[in-house]
Amino acid sequence: MPTLDSYDAIPYEGIPITETYVEQLAAIGRLFGLATADPRACRVLELGCAEGGNLIPMAFYLPDCRFVGLDLSVRQIEAGQRLIDALGLPNVTLLHRDVAAGAEDLGQFDYVIAHGLFSWVPADTRAALLALVRRCLAPHGLAYVSWNALPGWHTRAMMRAMLLQYTRTEQAPRARLQAAHDFLTRFGPALVEEAGELAPLLKAEVEYLRRAPPSYVYHEYLAEVNEPMLFADFVQLVHAHGLEYVADAELYTLLPHTLGEAGQDVVADLDDRLARIQAMDFLRARRFHRSLLTHVETPMQAAPDLEALRGLAFHADLSSEEEIDLAEASPQVFATASGARYSVRHPLAKAALMLLATAYPDSLAYSELHAAAAALVAEYGTAEAAQEEPALARVLLDLIAYNVVRPAVNARRFDASPGDRPCAHGLARAQLALGQDCLASVRHTAVQLDAEGRRLLALCDGTRDLAALTAAMEPLLPQEYTAAAREACARMLWTFARHGLLSPAGQTSRG
Ligand SMILES: C[S@@+](CC[C@H](N)C(=O)[O-])C[C@H]1O[C@@H](n2cnc3c(N)ncnc32)[C@H](O)[C@@H]1O
Repeated sequence: MPTLDSYDAIPYEGIPITETYVEQLAAIGRLFGLATADPRACRVLELGCAEGGNLIPMAFYLPDCRFVGLDLSVRQIEAGQRLIDALGLPNVTLLHRDVAAGAEDLGQFDYVIAHGLFSWVPADTRAALLALVRRCLAPHGLAYVSWNALPGWHTRAMMRAMLLQYTRTEQAPRARLQAAHDFLTRFGPALVEEAGELAPLLKAEVEYLRRAPPSYVYHEYLAEVNEPMLFADFVQLVHAHGLEYVADAELYTLLPHTLGEAGQDVVADLDDRLARIQAMDFLRARRFHRSLLTHVETPMQAAPDLEALRGLAFHADLSSEEEIDLAEASPQVFATASGARYSVRHPLAKAALMLLATAYPDSLAYSELHAAAAALVAEYGTAEAAQEEPALARVLLDLIAYNVVRPAVNARRFDASPGDRPCAHGLARAQLALGQDCLASVRHTAVQLDAEGRRLLALCDGTRDLAALTAAMEPLLPQEYTAAAREACARMLWTFARHGLLSPAGQTSRG
């Protein structure tokens, strides 16, 4: 079996892709009327899984699910398999295989994930990928396929064209990458001065590429194949393979009311939902999609259903610096873990977000969330506002659409406290040992740790209490922290616990 030299030479730095989290996929499917499989015991296939940076954490945290990953780069598969062996995970297998070779021998899967593959393989492999999804997806299954979209990718294509030309004399992947960085350094400042009306755009591109991980720069901008397409063309291909487009993992891409007034006017008379999504792509100059597909025969709803939403559970990693006013419909800003800020006004929504922020990483069932929020609003606000349940459902849908609140099929509780002698679980220890600074949380998010965070987590082996951890960390902390070293360590421990990086209290290991 051939291998993919470019990925053998420059492996992809895989991290958890939260939009592929099976809890979330299952819930979005339910919003559109699909009887998706219970994410606590499902079968998942990832195509182009690289070293398993997305799949292995899910397998670790969801021990009753079965995971299979395929990738054409033998070196990446071997690296992933080493981590699986070190963790002793029985529920995940990585196979060195071309997606074009199919996967019928592996049985059927409830969820098929292909992130970062579709646009970056030749047209015949793209067709083989969709044919594989058609054959291996269970009848009520959901596939996630991400791809580069037009018209937005045209702006990135300018930089790709320049980089491809500039690096053309180099053959070896590392040398090409180096040449690309030389280009950014040499040409970047002058481009910004000389490119006229395109200068702001190119300036943003240069800055974006300077910050991006080298493996992303290589496999996105210097890849042999990178063929963005229009939504309409993507949907035509999907239909040709007996599949149907359900939604995008970022639901706002298909909800017209998330457009401004002028945008809503443009799409108002487009009754065909696929034509409307294409028009919305034009308006937003969309450059990336995370599309969810099912079988063309599987009954589904064209729009998310608020009644189905009321059957789901929710979790949200949020914070708010302001005191919450439940008496008025005044704006209240909540920030996500990535720093994005969202404002909500309705007292029920404010109370619900506060409850979710406190409960994270736990998920709360809608009925429980609504009852608790209504009780708070009745006590600290008005009886009228407490009874406006439909407003809560509508706000939650909007927040799901922007991935501020994450939906799940089941309410789940985790033991998120550090305990007396905190202990990093097996996956966290293994990721630290591999030198990774981006760890996988129990909610399938990427947790970026600085040097101090990594050091403290490594010290959490179940033998040290807070005093011992503080004593070990004090000499390593930057000056500004040493006066309050104990508080700084305690805060970091709570962050680890909130992300589920520690074994439940009383256990010294979780894998
Ligand atoms: C950009 S990476 C994405 C990795 C992973 N899905 C993630 O998001 O972290 C694309 C992966 O697809 C793999 N790949 C490319 N062509 C393939 C093919 N024909 N069959 C299987 N894997 C392939 C590459 O080796 C690479 O690991």
